[in-house]
Amino acid sequence: MSLPPDDPHALAAEFVRRWLPETFRARTGIILGSGLGRLGGALTDAIDLAYTEIPGFVCSTAPGHRGHLLAGYLAGQPVLCLQGRFHRYEGHSFSDIVFPIRMLRLLGVKRLLLTNAAGAINTTYKPGELMLIADHINLMGGNPLIGPNNAAFGERFFDMGTTYTPALRALAKVCAAEQGLCLREGVYIAVTGPNYETPAEIRAFRVLGADAVGMSTVPEAIAARHCGMDILGISLLTNMAAGVTDAVLSGSEVLAASDRSAEAMERLITALVRHLPE
Ligand code: HPA
Repeated sequence: MSLPPDDPHALAAEFVRRWLPETFRARTGIILGSGLGRLGGALTDAIDLAYTEIPGFVCSTAPGHRGHLLAGYLAGQPVLCLQGRFHRYEGHSFSDIVFPIRMLRLLGVKRLLLTNAAGAINTTYKPGELMLIADHINLMGGNPLIGPNNAAFGERFFDMGTTYTPALRALAKVCAAEQGLCLREGVYIAVTGPNYETPAEIRAFRVLGADAVGMSTVPEAIAARHCGMDILGISLLTNMAAGVTDAVLSGSEVLAASDRSAEAMERLITALVRHLPE
């Protein structure tokens, strides 16, 4: 991948490369979503870099997003872990949101595990369950690839038929069964937020074929596919989406719910990383 040395992604990657131990090479990147940052605590021999130190990174302001890059080992495998992500509702541009993904690619990451908290639209799903993302619907009104194409990352036009890598999804199902975890599978629809949806929007999203709704992940998946990464997406269903029950949705309850169920996500990701090919 050849980028001019003054490309901001290249500068960030170079900065992180200097910070990493010389022999550290991670093929797997993990993005930890709302309230899921504690998985970072499961890494061994981890070192930790604040996003504010990395040139080109914007600041993470979302609650439950710590804003640190971790390098360490999960189940004995080297991983780079982004503890906290950037959202459109924070005011960040789509290109800022995907900046860390491109930096990971330049650092040699080929496989991206995306996690998030989401609301369940499918009424047969329950809060606390995990959902494998089979496909997505982009309703964020934007795309990180709009503008001149950076051919060093990928082609202008490319296929999104299998955005979420079938082999990784199959492996996730095996790992969930091994761990005795219930793993749903469905379509994730992405909106910008920051407000939760109206009941009418949720009814409309159900008609569109969505099983879960959230405010992230899709820009990252688009940029990761563009630069040829394999992707796995897992949503932690923190709540039933608006109007499914009488519950009033609040950010603090969503965070508390993701905290309660983060252990299941941690077990699944750890089992998955253990079984990943080199
Ligand atoms: N809607 C949008 N984003 C979310 C939700 C929701 O219900 N729950 C967690 N993130």
